[in-house]
Amino acid sequence: MAKLALLAVIASLLGAVSCEFPVYAGYGFPRPNPNMPFAFPFPPFFSPASPAPGLRVGYYTHNGRCPQAEKIVRDAVEKATAGEKAGLIRLFFHDCFVQGCDGSVLLSGADTERTAFPNLSLRGFEVIDAAKAALETACPGVVSCADVVAFAGRDASYSLSSGRINYRVPAGRYDGKVSRAGDTFQNLPPPFGDLNLTTAMFAAKGLSQDDMVVLSGAHSIGRSDCSSFPDRLPPVANSSTAMEPKLAQQLTGTCSAGGSVNVLQDAITPDKLDIQYYTNVLSRNVLFNSDASLTTSTETEGLVEFYAGKRPLFRGKFLGPIQWNHDFEDAMVKMGYIGVKTSAEGEIRNTCAFINKP
Ligand code: HEM
Repeated sequence: MAKLALLAVIASLLGAVSCEFPVYAGYGFPRPNPNMPFAFPFPPFFSPASPAPGLRVGYYTHNGRCPQAEKIVRDAVEKATAGEKAGLIRLFFHDCFVQGCDGSVLLSGADTERTAFPNLSLRGFEVIDAAKAALETACPGVVSCADVVAFAGRDASYSLSSGRINYRVPAGRYDGKVSRAGDTFQNLPPPFGDLNLTTAMFAAKGLSQDDMVVLSGAHSIGRSDCSSFPDRLPPVANSSTAMEPKLAQQLTGTCSAGGSVNVLQDAITPDKLDIQYYTNVLSRNVLFNSDASLTTSTETEGLVEFYAGKRPLFRGKFLGPIQWNHDFEDAMVKMGYIGVKTSAEGEIRNTCAFINKP
């Protein structure tokens, strides 16, 4: 009954929002109004990160379930391009934030998460499918697609960081049976979000503001479509978070070509998962408002400076650039606990794009 009431409130909020505001560049979000602070009206949809029963490191080696599982995924990721690897890290984030880490982002079909605007640019599905096909040959019906996504996110991080990011993934997730396009936009933070909004959307998943700052470092790799940052061009005059004028001028040129144009997130070390992102944030050489707004509070700015190596000591810790690798590892593990499903709530899919036939 309480759930029904919550759904009714959300449905009415959705209705109110879509009537009053134009949709933001296809993203599905209300466009921010500079004269009105943007209040995000949605409560968290899914259970936040918590130590879910059943997840354990070495899950597939235990009891001989499928000892070669992690190696099979690693081999598939090693064959991927740098762009696909960036896509795999983002895929893990988009999977976990919507319906929990349950492979729901992989499901094909009308009105699934995959068809929603923020997911149209996701990459790496073929890598997941190749790994899953090899797993089904080696150990049929044992390894969940949700775990494949979690392993692949780790292996891509390892590869793009030249081994500096290297962590063990607690596994044993089950695959969900529900995937709805409409769930994506109220759970995935939008690129135009300010610090309050982005922090609140991470908090709704049980992740802290520090986790958010750490994980945003993934914007040191990969690309973005120009349609993801129209609010940043031309840069707003006299704003402390406006894009650096040279980059803005260059992107204005590149993006004016029309159609779908992709640009690098980090022009300096585009394929390296590293701390360059934090230097870019400080010099305002970043694409999204969510990135730039990390300098708008003393705490987050301090952490950004620490990771960038501009502050030798922060909250009693030294060597920020090295610390960032550890913090990124911990935050990825923590993200992997969001809304994990058990055998009672999920299944082990045969093919990642479809739920099993009854
Ligand atoms: C803090 C909130 C975040 C926002 C608002 C955000 C938004 C975006 C947007 C708009 C893009 C470009 C999409 C496109 O136009 O193609 C993007 C790319 C990317 N994001 Fe995020 N993101 C956030 C957090 C994260 C997190 C937590 C991760 C992973 C740990 C991540 C990893 C990536 C990666 C790797 C790319 C590049 C993907 C590719 O090249 O295919 N992002 N993000």
